[in-house]
Amino acid sequence: MITRLDPARVDALADLLFAGTPVEQWPVEWFEVVDGVQRADVLLSGLTADAPTLPAVLAQSPQVLLDEVATSGLRGRGGAGFPTARKWQACRDAAGDRRIVVCNADEGEPGTFKDRVLLARHADAVFDGMTVAARAVGAQQGFLYLRGEYRFLLPQLEAVLARRRAQGLLGHDACGVVGFGFDIDIHLGAGAYVCGEESALIESLEGKRGTPRIRPPFPVQAGYLGRPTVVNNVETFAAVAHIARRGGAWWAGIGTAQSTGTKIHSVSGDCAWPGLYEYPLGTPIAQILADCGARDVQAVQVGGPSGSCVPASEAGRAIAFEDVPSAGAFMVFDHTRDLFEVARHFARFFAHESCGLCTPCRVGTELVVRRLDKLAHARGAGSASAFDIERLHDLDTVLHSGTHCGLGASACNPLRDTMRHFGAAYAQRATASQFQPDVDLDAELSSARRATGRSDAGAHLHTDTPT
Ligand SMILES: Cc1cc2nc3c(=O)[nH]c(=O)nc-3n(C[C@H](O)[C@H](O)[C@H](O)COP(=O)(O)O)c2cc1C
Ligand code: SF4
Repeated sequence: MITRLDPARVDALADLLFAGTPVEQWPVEWFEVVDGVQRADVLLSGLTADAPTLPAVLAQSPQVLLDEVATSGLRGRGGAGFPTARKWQACRDAAGDRRIVVCNADEGEPGTFKDRVLLARHADAVFDGMTVAARAVGAQQGFLYLRGEYRFLLPQLEAVLARRRAQGLLGHDACGVVGFGFDIDIHLGAGAYVCGEESALIESLEGKRGTPRIRPPFPVQAGYLGRPTVVNNVETFAAVAHIARRGGAWWAGIGTAQSTGTKIHSVSGDCAWPGLYEYPLGTPIAQILADCGARDVQAVQVGGPSGSCVPASEAGRAIAFEDVPSAGAFMVFDHTRDLFEVARHFARFFAHESCGLCTPCRVGTELVVRRLDKLAHARGAGSASAFDIERLHDLDTVLHSGTHCGLGASACNPLRDTMRHFGAAYAQRATASQFQPDVDLDAELSSARRATGRSDAGAHLHTDTPT
């Protein structure tokens, strides 16, 4: 994985590729991954040396562990914010004698890199959280589904797991709990964003193509190989490791009543100090902007492309489930940025990542890109008009309501937000007074004219544009 790509590095990279230079001879600093922790709270500071050991934690009954998570009010950090204890309880209650715990480390949302750092620095806390979950729901098998681009973390994560097996934290009678057998395997993803969606992830784990499943049944009822399966985000499990030691009430005392605990933000874009910032939930966007040295802010994309675009005028709003929820990305855009182009870039991302299973998403994401391209190149034949903007609203409605999974449902989020807050960026491109098709049929016939050697008026659909 090559990091910190800028124009100079891309040029140098291209030179090496054209010269056929073997990868082993490329500059080592290109592969250097910097954690960039700027503000650490509970999770990024790690477990304290005097924290109870995992065996001491697991000596408590599964019900007590589950009750502590319920008391904490912890909600999943993967995006949807589902209450963790409710998910675990549903898995525990589901019929079946084998249960599975999966840690979702696919981290494919553009602008998010917090799970990578948690795994690099605090893998033990993540594996502790998975083991607590396994004990609470009665699972025997765990998987860490690791984003393919994080392959470089594999050796150190395997080493942590090997150490934990040697310490008796995994395996038969794990943590000294007689009859509790639990182990964790690592499964590498292959770069598909949709595989972060939990049912697509499970398909991929089973060795199939990663397409989202029809629900119900939900993974907690029938997940991996039809077994009740809990899927949680890396940060969720890291939080569990702390909650299991310090108690649910302690976690519930951080943040707000509806959004307990801390949240890690991957800050990037137009700011002086990008990196990871951990705050209690309920922290205003303005504070994060001030801390990361953002100036002349136009907007912040919170939660990545599938999240929301918040204009600077609303920076007083808080990152919390009841206000602006976030899966972790925090991308700052100053006034030099064209937010129409930002939305167009995100639209291309969703069209590229659509798995193609359902038509509204497969076709709809592509149609959104075409309309935005038409607006972007609005001049001459095919000029965009207000009609094209109307069609974008229609496509947003179709995608939001008619697609099978969250990818399609959220694909128009950047579009909707930027049209609402930065409508002028669209309106100034809709210059034509009435609709003009973006296909020039006469121009399309030019190859036929060349083949037949004709260029007379009769070979044209309209005579004023010979080609
Ligand atoms: C297209 C798509 C991509 C997703 N990517 C991720 C991801 O990379 N990591 C993640 O934890 N959750 C991701 N999710 C959410 C998961 O489906 C699931 O809700 C989450 O892993 C549950 O964990 P939590 O309860 O701890 O939040 C994605 C969802 C969708 C629709
Ligand atoms: S919404 Fe898109 S990504 Fe999701 S199942 Fe349908 S085609 Fe696949």
